[in-house]
Amino acid sequence: PEQKQSTSSCCQLEDLKKRPQCNSTLGELTYSRRHFVLIDVDEFNSKTNKGRISPHKGTHQWSSHFVKMLGSQKVSRSGDMQERRAQVIMELSRLSSAESLEVEEVEDAIMRYNPKYRGQWKFDALSEFMKRVSKQEQDHYHTLLPKMAALALRLPEVVRKAVPLLRTGHTRAITLSQRQISCLLANAFFCTFPHRNTTSRNAEYANYPSINFSSLFGNWSQRKQEKLRAILHYFNVVTDENTTPEGLVTFERRCLKDPPAWRSCKELLQKLHVTSGGSIETNGTGLLQVDFACSMIGGGVLGSGLVQEEILFLINPELIVSRLFTEKLQDDECLLITGTQQFSCYSGYSDSFRWLSPHEDTLTRDEWARLNRQILAIDAVKFRDRKDQYNMSAITRELNKAYCGFKKQENEEHDVATGKWGCGAFNGDPQLKALIQLMAAAKADRGLAFFTFGDERLNQDLQKMHHLLVTERITVERLYGLLDSYCTEMKKKRPHVDLFQFIRNKISGSWLTKVIPCWKKKC
Ligand code: AR6
Repeated sequence: PEQKQSTSSCCQLEDLKKRPQCNSTLGELTYSRRHFVLIDVDEFNSKTNKGRISPHKGTHQWSSHFVKMLGSQKVSRSGDMQERRAQVIMELSRLSSAESLEVEEVEDAIMRYNPKYRGQWKFDALSEFMKRVSKQEQDHYHTLLPKMAALALRLPEVVRKAVPLLRTGHTRAITLSQRQISCLLANAFFCTFPHRNTTSRNAEYANYPSINFSSLFGNWSQRKQEKLRAILHYFNVVTDENTTPEGLVTFERRCLKDPPAWRSCKELLQKLHVTSGGSIETNGTGLLQVDFACSMIGGGVLGSGLVQEEILFLINPELIVSRLFTEKLQDDECLLITGTQQFSCYSGYSDSFRWLSPHEDTLTRDEWARLNRQILAIDAVKFRDRKDQYNMSAITRELNKAYCGFKKQENEEHDVATGKWGCGAFNGDPQLKALIQLMAAAKADRGLAFFTFGDERLNQDLQKMHHLLVTERITVERLYGLLDSYCTEMKKKRPHVDLFQFIRNKISGSWLTKVIPCWKKKC
C-alpha cells in the first residue's frame, strides 16, 4: 500500500465500497417495457431449471425501433432484402462448411453480399495480419474462420426475437446472453448487418456507431495487428463449446431527467483514493469503472483509435455489441454495462499497445448470472481550444454528464473508479475534470478511486486539494462558485495560476478576511 501522507484526507482503495460485497438482492429477472430481456426468463427463474439460459422465443420485427438483421427470420418484404438474406445465408453456409479458410475467401464472400462496397472496402490488414503471425497461428486462424461463420449462421436460433434500439431520450435496458452477443458479433465480423455501412448524414443509422467490422480489415498498421489479435482471440474462446461463456450482460441507457441545481448543492465531498499506479480496469475491480467514451459508443475501436475506451473494448469485446443498438449519447445520457467478460491481457498504450495473453476472468456472478463488472460510458466534451472548457455552461454539461452516470439506483452502493476523463484525446484540464467528478460523486453520495495513470504530479496535487476542501468543509455549491470565479478570471485572461492554486488562494484569502478583522478588534 502507498505511504499515506499526513496532509492527505484520502482513503485506501480497500475503504471503498465494491461489488459483490455491497450487492443487494435483485429479485427475479423479468421482462418489462423498460427492460428488454432476450432470454427466456421463465426458464431462467424456474425452480427446476434455475439459471438455465435459452433464447426467448418472441417475434422478429423489421422496423425503425429494432435492429435490422438479415440472419433473423423476418426481414423486409422488399425483394432486394430477401435476395440479400438468401445470399448471406448461402455464403455463410459455404464458409462454415470449409475446414480451413483463406482471408481471400472470406473477403469474396463478404463482398458478394455487399457489392456496393467493392473497391471501397479493403482487406489488406487482415491478410497482412495472417502473414505476420507464426505458421502455427496461421493454421489455427484458418480453421477458426469457418467456426466463426458457423456461429454467425446460427443467428435465427440464438436470437429469437427482435433486438430493440436504445434510442435518444429513452431510459431503457437490454439483457442478453453472452452466447447471443457472440453470435451478433460474429455477424458484425462478416458484415451482415444491413443499412449500417453508409456514413452519409441522412442515412437511417447516421446517429449510430458503425457495427460491421469492414473498417477493421483495411489499412494495415501495428495497431490493427494487435486489434485483430484481440478480436480473434475472443472468437477463439466463444466458438469452443468448452470455453464459451454462459452468462448474461445488461446494457442500460440512462437519461438524466432532473439535473441538480449545482449552484445550491450543500453536499460535502466524499471519500477519495488517489494513486498514480495501476489502471481503472485492473485495480478498480468491483467499482463502477468509467469508460472515457465517445458519444458514438466505442469510438474508434473498429478503426484506428487505441486509447482508453478502445483498449477497454478490445479486452472486453462484448462491449462492442453496444454499437449495434446504442444511439449517439446526448449531453444528459450515459450507458451502463453490467457483466461483460475480460478475455485478454494487454501491455502498452496507443502505438505501443500489444495483445499479451488470454485472461482468465475469475469474477463472481450476480443473481442474474452477470459477472460482477460494471462499466459506465460517459463522453466528455472534446475541446479543440483548451480555453473553451473554462466556461460555466461547459462545466455544467460535464457535471450533469458525470452525475447522470454516478447517480445511484436500486442495488447500487459501490463506489466509482475513474481518472483523467476527457483529458487525453479530448484535451481537458485534469484538475478541472477531477473537481467536476468529485462534485458529481458528492452529489451522488459515492466515493471515488482516481487513477492518475502515471501522473505523479496530479496524484500529489489532488491529494492536497482534497485535503483542503475536506478540512475547510467546502460544499459542492461553494466549489461551483469558485469554478465560476475562475472562469470569469480566465475570460479576463487574468489568473496566472492553475485552477488548484486559484482555489487555494481563494480559500486561504477568505480565511484571512475572516480572521484579520477579529484579530484587529482584539488589538
Ligand atoms: N486507467 C486509468 N487512466 C487511463 C487509462 C486506464 N486504463 N487509460 C488511459 N488513461 P483518453 P478522453 C488516462 O484519451 O480524453 C477515445 O477515442 C491517460 O492519462 O482515452 O476522454 C474515445 O472513444 C489518458 O491520457 O480519454 C473518445 O473518442 C487519459 O486517461 C476519446 O478517446 C484520457 O484518456 C475520449 O478521450
